[in-house]
Amino acid sequence: MEEIISKHIEKIKQITSATKEELENLRIEYLGKKGVMNDLFAKFKEVAPENRKQMGIKLNELKQIAQAKIEELKEKAEAKAEENKPKEDFTKPLESVALGSIHPLTLVRKEIVDIFSRIGYTVQEGPEIEDDWHVFSALNFPPEHPARDMQDTFFVENGRADGNDILLRTHTSSVQVRTMEKIKPPIRIIAPGRVFRNEAISARAHCIFHQIEGLYIDKNVSFADLKQNLLYFVKEMFGEDTKIRLRPSYFPFTEPSAEMDISCTICKGDGCNICKHTGWLEIMGCGMIDPNVLEASGIDSKVYSGFAFGMGVERIAMLKYDVKDLRQYFENDIRFLKQFSSAL
Ligand code: PHE
Repeated sequence: MEEIISKHIEKIKQITSATKEELENLRIEYLGKKGVMNDLFAKFKEVAPENRKQMGIKLNELKQIAQAKIEELKEKAEAKAEENKPKEDFTKPLESVALGSIHPLTLVRKEIVDIFSRIGYTVQEGPEIEDDWHVFSALNFPPEHPARDMQDTFFVENGRADGNDILLRTHTSSVQVRTMEKIKPPIRIIAPGRVFRNEAISARAHCIFHQIEGLYIDKNVSFADLKQNLLYFVKEMFGEDTKIRLRPSYFPFTEPSAEMDISCTICKGDGCNICKHTGWLEIMGCGMIDPNVLEASGIDSKVYSGFAFGMGVERIAMLKYDVKDLRQYFENDIRFLKQFSSAL
């Protein structure tokens, strides 16, 4: 029996590698129910008592060697399988990440800011919660002006003793005043921002919307400068062949004042539903800054003159993207939003 055990030990020691299948066969051969080990242990009972100790040691040695070998071969096989696995391909392009798109109002604001910054305008901002002085009084609104009515303006604090009520700004012209208080002429700024008016919400009006204000103050600024600046803007925004028309109008803070129309971007002036068959679309208010406004902010109106203009971002975006209902800008319907570019 001792000889048989030695032979098995020798045999096992010689094995250096095995496939998965061979390994399993080896395990069954030695450690299985009907395997060599069980067989030898059965025979062990017949061994003479004086030889038992010696034989027991030998038998255990075989068992340990068999177990250790199986373990060793298993590890080897696993290491090999790992090695043969296809390597990660680091040159493979990444799965594309779905990006959101940019809101049409953001796109249009960015485009307007870009156009004006090319001719030297910089961006200024002001608070959305304002006081009466910056929204109305400094802009030459008389005390009884209807814009100061509760029906047009959202008040935060109304009827204050000092007359300087706190309210949500109704236009970005308040940034004109804040800029004149802060910066000495020459001034050349645009002010994009959110404005608030107490209006019923419909396809054509909303109580929250966006404006972009322009302000230009220097020596010898004339109405011709205003017209040229706006013509440049319109050609950049709507195309080289777009025409402009200035109609006399009224704002308390500009004199003279005008309303600017552009030739209809849809029918090119022939007349269609969008321009109500006039061939023209109104897009902004503008004018020469009233000397009272310059003086209220401490600028000498005998030395300096300037112009201002203000336009609605929603309106420009409606014309550019043919949006028929203003409410779509605020509903955040993905089907609407995803039609716009994801790149700024
Ligand atoms: N603030 C005016 C409005 O909201 C627009 C405007 C701005 C007009 C600047 C003239 C000059 O209607």
